[in-house]
Amino acid sequence: MSIYNLPIISQEEAGRRTHKLVLRAPELAGACAPGQFVHVLCGTYHDPLLRRPISVHNADVKEGTITLLYEVKGRGTALLAAKRPGEYANVFGPLGQGFKLPNTCGSPILLLGGGIGSAPLYFLARRISETVGCQTSTFMLGAQNCDSMVCREEFAALGPDIRLATDDGSLGCRGFVTELFAEYLASSESSTPPLVYACGPTPMLKAVALIANKHNLPCQVSLEAKMACGVGACMSCVVRVKDGGGEKYVRCCKEGPVFDAKEVVW
Ligand SMILES: Cc1cc2nc3c(=O)[nH]c(=O)nc-3n(C[C@H](O)[C@H](O)[C@H](O)COP(=O)(O)OP(=O)(O)OC[C@H]3O[C@@H](n4cnc5c(N)ncnc54)[C@H](O)[C@@H]3O)c2cc1C
Ligand code: FES
Repeated sequence: MSIYNLPIISQEEAGRRTHKLVLRAPELAGACAPGQFVHVLCGTYHDPLLRRPISVHNADVKEGTITLLYEVKGRGTALLAAKRPGEYANVFGPLGQGFKLPNTCGSPILLLGGGIGSAPLYFLARRISETVGCQTSTFMLGAQNCDSMVCREEFAALGPDIRLATDDGSLGCRGFVTELFAEYLASSESSTPPLVYACGPTPMLKAVALIANKHNLPCQVSLEAKMACGVGACMSCVVRVKDGGGEKYVRCCKEGPVFDAKEVVW
């Protein structure tokens, strides 16, 4: 991991309060794995002081670029959204443990994203396709409404089966992405259990984990936690995991953000 001052190639709106930031980053693009994140200095001169963690949405080694897809939530992301091509973004990474890729293409692959949590799943689907050679079987994407559904065209270019759910029914089914997941399992005729990858808000991940654990499915989840240092020094990001018969705290930024759903204490 290193700190990079990266030229901004483009910064576009990609949905309601959502921005797509493409950075020239030849070295970082080659070093990133899906599920890892970068820690971004959003303002200037360390104001705000803390960096903000953002997942890698895509890393294009040939083009020498990384892409971040982020929602404007508060001051940090608003400052980042104000940056323009020609300016620089100060980025520290890649950080954390990413998703474990499948070894072979024997099992259906399910990717479940909630809101902006869908962002790292695009890089994951591309990397599985490019390195393992298998296509994601089904994408299940959930959002509050049609406007906040991110990257569905990008996902559509990667796989034929995309299932959408919105809280208000303005796109796809009315309901939660977890309901799509339960329906998929109820109607699936495949004898091979799917590999499940999920990223989104904690309540969604908890519901996904409960379903996956009930069916004894391998399931990796990317957790969110408030982060300060991003490198395992400050303990601001701890999450509880199982440890033999007991429990322990681990650092989301260092041992995560991706965990086995069976290990997490929900
Ligand atoms: C490993 C990791 C990867 C992430 N990847 C992405 C991504 O790809 N795209 C994206 O849009 N966001 C991502 N986030 C969330 C992002 O870091 C926060 O939205 C951001 O830090 C908010 O900063 P801010 O200054 O704009 O808001 P603040 O003013 O700091 O906070 C505004 C609101 O956002 C909430 N918030 C702050 N930090 C976090 C956090 N770490 N997680 C959840 N909510 C938070 C606060 O509770 C508050 O309600 C990721 C978080 C983690 C931990
Ligand atoms: S953010 Fe400091 S230990 Fe995780």
